[in-house]
Amino acid sequence: MIIAIANQKGGVGKTTTAINISAALALLGNRILLVDTDPQAHSTVSCVNDPSKLEFSLYDVLTNSGIKTEDVIVTSTIPGLDVINSKISMAKLEPMLIGEIDGHFRLKDVLAPIRKKYDFIFIDTPPTLGLITINSLMAADSVIIPIQSSYLSLEGTDDLLETIDKIKKISNTELKILGIIITLFDKRTNISKDVLKRIKKVFGDKVFDTVVSKSVKLEESPAYKESIFTFAPQSIGATQYQEIAREIIKRVKK
Ligand SMILES: Nc1ncnc2c1ncn2[C@@H]1O[C@H](COP(=O)(O)OP(=O)(O)O)[C@@H](O)[C@H]1O
Ligand SMILES: [Mg+2]
Repeated sequence: MIIAIANQKGGVGKTTTAINISAALALLGNRILLVDTDPQAHSTVSCVNDPSKLEFSLYDVLTNSGIKTEDVIVTSTIPGLDVINSKISMAKLEPMLIGEIDGHFRLKDVLAPIRKKYDFIFIDTPPTLGLITINSLMAADSVIIPIQSSYLSLEGTDDLLETIDKIKKISNTELKILGIIITLFDKRTNISKDVLKRIKKVFGDKVFDTVVSKSVKLEESPAYKESIFTFAPQSIGATQYQEIAREIIKRVKK
């Protein structure tokens, strides 16, 4: 099962969600691969030791330079989690793919030989709707959309949904929206509650029952290259991401 985590807005919790649901599902005994496609490489930096010392990255295998997918899989600092790391060189990828016949399908082809080795492959995507995100949606069986519970948070989701629809029409007909995760929720503010209501009105039962609250522990854990489950196992963020992992398993089985 390949799941892309996408929303072309930055700072909505894509990377935090990718890392912590990967860690939660690994704790439940699943074999997990996290593919970092964002040139900013935040997922990589948050869970790989000395990433600047790594010779290869996703870029090398996507550009057909004779590197195999197996050669770019590294062990992360999070138990049970493998990673395909990103590098800033990924920023050069999109201009190279424009006009290539297989320009939308490179990631799908890269993941094909190894997908059976993992129970879940998560793809963390950049904050754009460019070719990298399109490659991610082409490669995925389903997509999770994190939405921040703040003013204007729904702005732009139409574009994302349109892109998903186009991709379903063009080629990946089985692509599903696995669900919407509300992130950075602050129960003290009325705006958070209002936004939650609005998102539920728009997306109905696509919205995960568990929301992710704003929490300092979730913000701090990447600096220590830890998931929330080792960094602050008793925190609200740990409970919530664990619940979301359980919801994912339920939704996948449906
Ligand atoms: N639930 C949360 N509570 C507090 N801070 C969070 C939470 N989720 C994410 N953050 C912080 O917000 C910033 C953006 O989150 P990130 O996951 O990197 O978003 P994206 O990948 O969508 O850009 C990061 O500094 C991250 O640590
Ligand atoms: Mg990110």
